[in-house]
Amino acid sequence: MASEKLLKELNDQFNFELLSGYYYMAMAAYCTGEDYNGFANFFIVQAQEEYTHAMKFFDFINDMGGRVTTLAMEEPKNDYSSLVEVFEVALSHEKLVTSKINKLLDLANEENSYPTVSFLQWFVDEQLEEENSMETILTKLKRIDGNFAGIYMLDKELGQRTL
Ligand code: FEO
Repeated sequence: MASEKLLKELNDQFNFELLSGYYYMAMAAYCTGEDYNGFANFFIVQAQEEYTHAMKFFDFINDMGGRVTTLAMEEPKNDYSSLVEVFEVALSHEKLVTSKINKLLDLANEENSYPTVSFLQWFVDEQLEEENSMETILTKLKRIDGNFAGIYMLDKELGQRTL
């Protein structure tokens, strides 16, 4: 079904999804501190989404007969110079997640672990969406170029996001 090595990598990804949520909570805190409450809402919902990703790994590892273990988490970046920087970091983080999912998929394929390959397919699709979402907002922010009305409208739009 799955080797010890594959189970360990799946467990690492469980922890990394939790860490991703922690990063996004730090971004939400920055946005709240700057009175961008819509942007803060976007990242709070993103953090909640990362928790649901982690729980998919939690359940799958257990279904595969593994044992989930929680690992120490590094301190997220708490200070940013601008909303553009926040989204640059968020986009580069999502690219890192995608590369980790792809490596996991390579390993699952090497081991012919078909349930793992099938399980990871959802994340392959999800990562495409996650990267696109961060990239779209980053592009909008760059076009807005600090214009107050533009920031205000985007903040309002992101305030509508729900889980
Ligand atoms: Fe769970 Fe945003 O990757």
